[in-house]
Amino acid sequence: MSATTPITIIIMGQLKKRKREQLNTLLKHRKPNLKFPKKIPKHWFGKSAFKTHLLNSFTLFFPSGEKYFIRSIKRVLNDIDNEELKLEARMFIKQEAQHYIEHEKFLENLRKHGYKIDHIIRFIENLTTKVIEPRLTPELNIAATAGLEHFTALLAEVGLSSGILKDAQYELRQLFEWHAAEEIEHKAVAFDVFNNIDGNYPRRILGLFIATATLCPFATAITANLIIQDGLMLNKKVWKDFINLMFKDEQLFFRGFSIFLDYFSKEFHPNNNETSSLIENIFSDLNFQATPA
Ligand SMILES: [Fe+2]
Ligand SMILES: [Fe+2]
Repeated sequence: MSATTPITIIIMGQLKKRKREQLNTLLKHRKPNLKFPKKIPKHWFGKSAFKTHLLNSFTLFFPSGEKYFIRSIKRVLNDIDNEELKLEARMFIKQEAQHYIEHEKFLENLRKHGYKIDHIIRFIENLTTKVIEPRLTPELNIAATAGLEHFTALLAEVGLSSGILKDAQYELRQLFEWHAAEEIEHKAVAFDVFNNIDGNYPRRILGLFIATATLCPFATAITANLIIQDGLMLNKKVWKDFINLMFKDEQLFFRGFSIFLDYFSKEFHPNNNETSSLIENIFSDLNFQATPA
């Protein structure tokens, strides 16, 4: 006969809670609860169609992408044999869930501006859930997640270190700065989970290739699609902004490529690249309740 009584369950619950509290995690679950005013202009990022749609493309694929990260981590959660890492993995899930919740709110603004986005969202969701994910083993899904997280940390680092987001509309600046800061904050979690449950080097690199083959074409195709919807594909300013962001001012391409190459080192760990100074003030500076001056 089982010795489990309601009192035992309560005591065990309290002990588990205390154990969780004793474990140290730097990650926090924040709920910015952003609201996007209806009057946000079409080209909300420095009046640049290119920069606006590059970030809009992220908003279109983040919900499917982040749900994929969450499923990948959840699938192996019980295989993680390090309690602290397991706690971080749970916090990672909460942070990623909050990211897509906040990004999804902006989709309504895009629809109101007349952008046809639902077929894009459906396409990414189907490609992720019906084509890619079922064909990969749990280990390879985590390797792909770690690879994608390397990209999001890379984008976050470039975004925050360049100060480029200061040109964005107020609430969208908050959205992307908060998201970028949390991407930097949790950049090692998927990588550590992969190492804990597997750690196979060729599989880690294969995960990066899967991430590259999905994220880069998605971002390019969606950005191009939105620019075409604006009828601005041949607009000189669009191409000038593209060249400035990628190769001149922020040098996203060169900086990105250099950080991308780091991943091939056998000694690579996301925390080897010290980026904590980029987010030191960001959470205290972001006042989610404040209205713009
Ligand atoms: Fe995220
Ligand atoms: Fe992330």
